[in-house]
Amino acid sequence: MRLDHSKPTIEADDIRAVTAVLRSRRLVGGALVPQFERAAARALGLRDALAVDSGTAALHLALVGLKVGRGDEVILPSYVHASLLDALSVVGAAPVLVDVEPEGFSLSLAHVKRRLTRRTKLIIAVHMFGEVVDLRPLVALGVPVLEDCSHALGATYRGRRVGSFGRAAAVSLFATKLITTGHGGVLASPARDVLARARSIRDADAYKAYQPHFNYQMSNLEGALGLTQLRKLPRFLARRRAVAAVYHRALGRHSFNLPASRVRRHAYYRFLVRVPATRFARIQAELARQGIEAKRAVFRPIHQYLRLPDYRFPHTMRLCREGLSLPIYPTLQAAQARRIAAAVSSLL
Ligand SMILES: Cc1ncc(COP(=O)(O)O)c(C=O)c1O
Repeated sequence: MRLDHSKPTIEADDIRAVTAVLRSRRLVGGALVPQFERAAARALGLRDALAVDSGTAALHLALVGLKVGRGDEVILPSYVHASLLDALSVVGAAPVLVDVEPEGFSLSLAHVKRRLTRRTKLIIAVHMFGEVVDLRPLVALGVPVLEDCSHALGATYRGRRVGSFGRAAAVSLFATKLITTGHGGVLASPARDVLARARSIRDADAYKAYQPHFNYQMSNLEGALGLTQLRKLPRFLARRRAVAAVYHRALGRHSFNLPASRVRRHAYYRFLVRVPATRFARIQAELARQGIEAKRAVFRPIHQYLRLPDYRFPHTMRLCREGLSLPIYPTLQAAQARRIAAAVSSLL
């Protein structure tokens, strides 16, 4: 049996919920999406959220809500999906890229401190691959923080859910994420004015005075799926942690993932092992031959899009060259995880 790199968990209740919306013929409007918004906010430890149609839209609206624009500097890690750069480009803010810590996947605090200037308007803390950023020292820098919780919805920091530590939180609900609505996203914030500004350009409608709008709304199909998926998030996370425990036991010394921690409770969106760069393609191909889909986890780090030299981002480059991402998702059985671990182990 072929083992995919990632797979959404779609169950009978998800199908029933989406089918009910189709039967109702009420594809937009009504109480469903607002209900999903409240549930999504709770999952982030907050009260209010906006549902949108992608994580990229959530990031864009977060920047608008936080009044980040032309001339502002935003600090973010290079080792992330290019959508963060896309959102900054739309508002005209300048990306200031930092490396990751020598261990794990989080942005380097020392590097962030070195890049702070009077123009720094925001730091984007990406809880990369489910690893929770050490938020306390980051927030203590006194610059607003946007948490990107796309890989860590439901994970906790010091016992509290991630999403509520910064000025805003953005989440992608794309098909590969921890829960999914197909395409979709959420922006949450403890600040009413942040959400109000974001809402004012999300919703396209009859305008009093013209300003650009983006019609980023979610339909009831996604809202219904989001609600059923959210109810199952604790179970999904428990399954991911069980798979990760198998990998940690079997592949611990080859792992890029930090060991499990109570303070920064991992969501295990991804599990990466260290593979010699010279053998990366061969090992990936051999796993594929055995029906195991393993991947390079970030297509290109952002600094390469901006033509910055690799030597300034040594830890990012190590993850890019040597990090092989293994299958991990709630429906992956322990026996399958053991089979994958054994295959990887024998190749290493
Ligand atoms: C950390 C992170 N943030 C944001 C996004 C963008 O989300 P979307 O694909 O839903 O626009 C992604 C996409 O993979 C991501 O990995």
